[in-house]
Amino acid sequence: MTERCHGDTRPPTGPRARTAIVLATAALLAATGAAFLPSTASAGTTLGASAAEKGRYFGTAVAASRLSDNAYTTILNREFNMVTAENEMKMNATEPQQGRFSYGAAEQIVNHARSRGMSVRGHTLAWHSQQPGWMESMSGSALRQAMLNHVTQVATHFRGQVVAWDVVNEAFADGGSGGRRDSNLQRTGNDWIEAAFRAADAADPNAKLCYNDYNTDNWTHAKTQGVYNMVRDFKARGVPIDCVGFQSHFNNNSPYVSNYRTTLSSFAALGVDVQITELDIQGAPANTYRSVVEDCMAVPRCNGITVWGIRDSDSWLASQTPLLFNSNGSKKAAYDAVLAALNNGSAVPTTAPPTSAPPTSVPPTSAPPTSVPPTTTPPPGGGCTATLQDSTRWGDRFNSQVTVSGASNWSVVVAVTPPQKVSATWNGSPSWDSSGNVMTMRSNGSGNVFGFTTMANGNWTRPQVLSCTAS
Ligand code: G3I
Repeated sequence: MTERCHGDTRPPTGPRARTAIVLATAALLAATGAAFLPSTASAGTTLGASAAEKGRYFGTAVAASRLSDNAYTTILNREFNMVTAENEMKMNATEPQQGRFSYGAAEQIVNHARSRGMSVRGHTLAWHSQQPGWMESMSGSALRQAMLNHVTQVATHFRGQVVAWDVVNEAFADGGSGGRRDSNLQRTGNDWIEAAFRAADAADPNAKLCYNDYNTDNWTHAKTQGVYNMVRDFKARGVPIDCVGFQSHFNNNSPYVSNYRTTLSSFAALGVDVQITELDIQGAPANTYRSVVEDCMAVPRCNGITVWGIRDSDSWLASQTPLLFNSNGSKKAAYDAVLAALNNGSAVPTTAPPTSAPPTSVPPTSAPPTSVPPTTTPPPGGGCTATLQDSTRWGDRFNSQVTVSGASNWSVVVAVTPPQKVSATWNGSPSWDSSGNVMTMRSNGSGNVFGFTTMANGNWTRPQVLSCTAS
């Protein structure tokens, strides 16, 4: 990592080092107040699209067993561009017997998400809870080895498919100690967390590696400070940590507090990304949801927000009705508040060229400099013209905007270059060919300008408009 110091002798891993350069640039720009984008004029109409327009994601926990529910997948596919498996990637699910790995349900979720251009957060590699029975009864060096093997196997299996891993979950104690939670993993030695991070780094050097916990939202709480001190120590010693997840299960006993933004920005100042990973709020008050989103949008290194389920009936706390959709699938007031806060929020700073371009892999012709003129569909269209313009660019992805003229009902075919993937769209109804690289966008009543986010995956070639057809 570029911020290694104090005796970390690891050679910097290429991708993680590149990410650190980009993020450091973004943090620098943020710190100096430079290069913030104005809010874009076109407001997204779904959570994922609105977040993507601001350089962020909006995700949800997904249960494999619900993927056959049409009402559920309709909302999932329309609204979200990040997915977390609610239970299917946990240790008891992925290694039910020692050395025998089982990925079926997890792969169902990963495939559903990725085939639709959504990204995946991995949850979770090492946790004191939901361990398989064989692991619960282990201790000492045998347990340490088994845990590290699990981290290595699972992170390797999903390498390239998971953008961020909750490497370690909930390792700190509740209450006033600010120390570690007692568990069989903790009893293998205090260094078990950093050992897990190093194993995950070796297995998947491209994924962001997060520490994830609950009741770490209030800046004054001892638990928050305990995690903060660990992250500061990890950064100082070069332990490969990229992000901190704040579960943010808010309820009457553990309410949202206004210093939440201080918590997010203080962690970010340590040089890590912050992510809201399991948001739900008892009763779903619109004002509190709005505040949480505004807090994330105010912190440039807050990458995105994941709610812990889609409809109230999908929630682990269904009786608290804590989510954005009613059990019948309709949008609640909290949904409108969240969408508005996303659309009103600040975009994350763009990375400043030339240091922001993924340095080694960008051929000179493929980078989309701002001066490149827009491309227009070739004449064989079909009654309309589509013009593609470059929009915001970040370290790992970029937005494009397409303006259609000559028709109000249209379909535009756009191709991206593999391994690029479209991760979000707005102001149109997309469908895909079997390769996932050719998108047909149809007008959906949102006007004649649509947009999309492309994950570069190392290739910065500008997407191509293949045709525009009036219908
Ligand atoms: O699928 C079985 C079912 O076959 C069986 O009949 C039933 C009987 O108990 O259990 C079902 O499994 C349950 C599973 O959820 C799926 O519904 C488990 O018992 C139950 O323990 C499990 O709860 C999950 C919980 O983690 C376990 O710790 C919740 O769904 C899940 O939302 C929750 O998620 C956690 C995050 O991972 C970490 N942060 C806190 C968050 C909320 O607890």
